[in-house]
Amino acid sequence: MTERSPVLSVRGLSVRFLLPGGRRIAAVTDAHFDVAPGECLALIGESGCGKSVLASALLGLLPANARTAGHARLGDLDLLTSDERTLARTVRGRRIGLIPQSPAAHLTPVRTIRSQLQETVAQLTGVRGRAALRTAAEQAAARAEFPPDHLDRHPHELSGGLAQRAATALALVGEAPLLLADEPTTGLDRDLVDRTVDELRRHVDADRALLMITHDLAAAERIADRVAVMYAGRIVELTAADTFFGAPGPRHPYSRGLLEALPDRSFTPIPGLPPELGDLPDGCAFAARCDRATDACTALPPFTDSVACHHPVPAPTPEDIRA
Ligand SMILES: Nc1ncnc2c1ncn2[C@@H]1O[C@H](COP(=O)(O)OP(=O)(O)O)[C@@H](O)[C@H]1O
Ligand code: SF4
Ligand SMILES: [Mg+2]
Repeated sequence: MTERSPVLSVRGLSVRFLLPGGRRIAAVTDAHFDVAPGECLALIGESGCGKSVLASALLGLLPANARTAGHARLGDLDLLTSDERTLARTVRGRRIGLIPQSPAAHLTPVRTIRSQLQETVAQLTGVRGRAALRTAAEQAAARAEFPPDHLDRHPHELSGGLAQRAATALALVGEAPLLLADEPTTGLDRDLVDRTVDELRRHVDADRALLMITHDLAAAERIADRVAVMYAGRIVELTAADTFFGAPGPRHPYSRGLLEALPDRSFTPIPGLPPELGDLPDGCAFAARCDRATDACTALPPFTDSVACHHPVPAPTPEDIRA
């Protein structure tokens, strides 16, 4: 099988927030990853570790006190150095479809779903004329399995699941090759999580690339091909989802801790709390919570062989696999 060129290629992406008094928040540090067509990469990690800041950096939506470094290539464009006009006109909606964390907040409350879809179709596609726009909006709704008899409703008249489908329909209008979903299942019950995730997976199978940000590991397991684990602003492990959720499991002690905290595993939370991103230690940021830590961990662990850790859980040897 030939490797396909990635849709998105992130190299050394860092984001710093500059605060009054010279304080700096290291929200994202040296992130590297690719997402290919037909692939879902799940970016997971506890709340506050920098996932949404990374998404905002890709979309050019960081506040004015943010500074970025590195590259985030989307085809011929570097998202980090593109100007706002390019991002607004050619990237957001057209080359990156954003599926938001809070669909209700993303939808305009005073307008029906049909009118919002028609407006987005008019903005992002060449479709003109009332009848053609109406048809295109209905097709857009159908792509996200939004029921046609709910198109004339306002957002507050929709259930959480249907609001999510409306937001997904809007995100799909521009036929963007990359979808970016930031916590798309927050606030949904487990059934709806499964349905939302399965619908997103269909769009991946239709050859879109999906960067799915979530702290819901069950949702990640259901949808992802690969998993990137973020801790205190850094990606500490990047591995195949099968390996991560199945055997032999992840190699980074933090990734192991996240899995062990799940109710259907040992339900044991990781002790302690993540460090302040404005006051990170020089060495491994997980050391204070890690039962494998040694003196070596006062130095920053390099990212080698899919994991950034001085003492990762050993990978199985060929003998282990044969046994
Ligand atoms: N505008 C800002 N100024 C300073 N710090 C910020 C700003 N926006 C986000 N942060 C900080 O960046 C960190 C990462 O936040 P976020 O990406 O939202 O986490 P996650 O999405 O993983 O829960 C948080 O500690 C947050 O306080
Ligand atoms: S580098 Fe050391 S402290 Fe950090 S996760 Fe690995 S073993 Fe634990
Ligand atoms: Mg977030």
